[in-house]
Amino acid sequence: MSANRQIQHYLDLSKELIGNAQLILEVPLVVAKTQDHYLIDCNGKKYLDFISGACTQNLGFNQRVQELSSGFPFPYAPGLIQLEYAKKLLSLYKSTYKCKLTFGVCGSEGIDAAIKYSRAYTKRKKIVSFYGDYHGTTFGSCTLTTMPGRMSKSFSPMVPECYAIPFVNENDDESKVLSTIGELLALDPSTIAGFVFESVQGDMGMLPCHKLLMQKLKELSHEYGFLLIADEIQLAYFRTGPFFSFENYEGLNPDLIVMGKNLGGGIPLSAVIGKSEILDSLNPGEHDFTLAGNSEACTRGLDNLNEILRLKESGEIDALATLMRERLDRLCSLYPALISKVTGKYLAYGLWLKSFKKFSKAQDTAAFMVKRCFDLGLYTQRLSSSWLRLEPFLNMSQTELNQGFDIIEKALEEAYKYAQS
Ligand SMILES: Cc1ncc(COP(=O)(O)O)c(C=O)c1O
Repeated sequence: MSANRQIQHYLDLSKELIGNAQLILEVPLVVAKTQDHYLIDCNGKKYLDFISGACTQNLGFNQRVQELSSGFPFPYAPGLIQLEYAKKLLSLYKSTYKCKLTFGVCGSEGIDAAIKYSRAYTKRKKIVSFYGDYHGTTFGSCTLTTMPGRMSKSFSPMVPECYAIPFVNENDDESKVLSTIGELLALDPSTIAGFVFESVQGDMGMLPCHKLLMQKLKELSHEYGFLLIADEIQLAYFRTGPFFSFENYEGLNPDLIVMGKNLGGGIPLSAVIGKSEILDSLNPGEHDFTLAGNSEACTRGLDNLNEILRLKESGEIDALATLMRERLDRLCSLYPALISKVTGKYLAYGLWLKSFKKFSKAQDTAAFMVKRCFDLGLYTQRLSSSWLRLEPFLNMSQTELNQGFDIIEKALEEAYKYAQS
């Protein structure tokens, strides 16, 4: 069978065997195995993964777990590894109050936990988030997911008493912040249980929130007693510079932090970290899962975290972030006709494309880029939009990062030529 027919065979098979809800791929990729920073397809072709397995594998697809394993998990008793990991994670949150955590199984479910905690603790019902957010696909988290086109909500009614107010990004005018705050006040903040936010709106294009908006949210949460809940599922682990992305905002001390993705070092695990009294507001069993915080995920996650902390300490992650910014600036100066802007920071960026000649819509340029990068051996995404998601592994070598950018540069060159032909 030819390589293309082989791929088509597996893609057809996946349509036959797997429900639509999990078929979100834009390029013909069938992964036979993963290795280090590469996806290897069923024909042995290698693709450099430029989104770090959607930030679930910030150190690459490593194989250390067999060496580390403490055996299969047992659900009903605290394990030594869970305690060690919990202690380490709690030490990373420099909060002004005493904290605890609960482990869970995935990011979406961590957001649901935060909804439960906020309601149980404040005895209020309203949960608010920003328009355009992505918080997951369980019932609570997908009620808070208002990213355009992402969730049809054909399975409504959704979780009641969830609201969204407009997001204001760092480059927007201050007047927008004031009108957003007006919308929050109109909801009567004294009846709000919790506000869930991404301080950098990830799936909308890596858009850092306006500093004044974060400041106002902090003030209002203190004044009216609603909880601030940081969704750090995608952008913790130094992705945006500091360990947690909310640390880009001075003095912000969320009541709850939700972590997931990379937390289990590549296998499912989530956690909600927060004020001890809030974490004790649910009764035993009210947010528990048989395999929550399982020892395998904790073992792997702790190992991963220690390595990431080491890399940060050594300056390697900072050096990679500097190189990434240089390469992005170079792309902008080479192809101003195709690139409208770069958003995000450190090692999490959106590269926004423009309409140009034959590409009548910016989305067409982005679709061309995703496909052409893929053909040239680089995996990235555009999330149905006009920007490319760029979140390389934290431990990539500079050579690999350059190889990835060389591919993007080549694809842009081809896009430029094609658009004019
Ligand atoms: C910001 C954010 N929140 C929540 C989620 C949901 O996490 P999970 O897919 O592990 O349920 C994601 C996943 O992409 C995310 O990026």
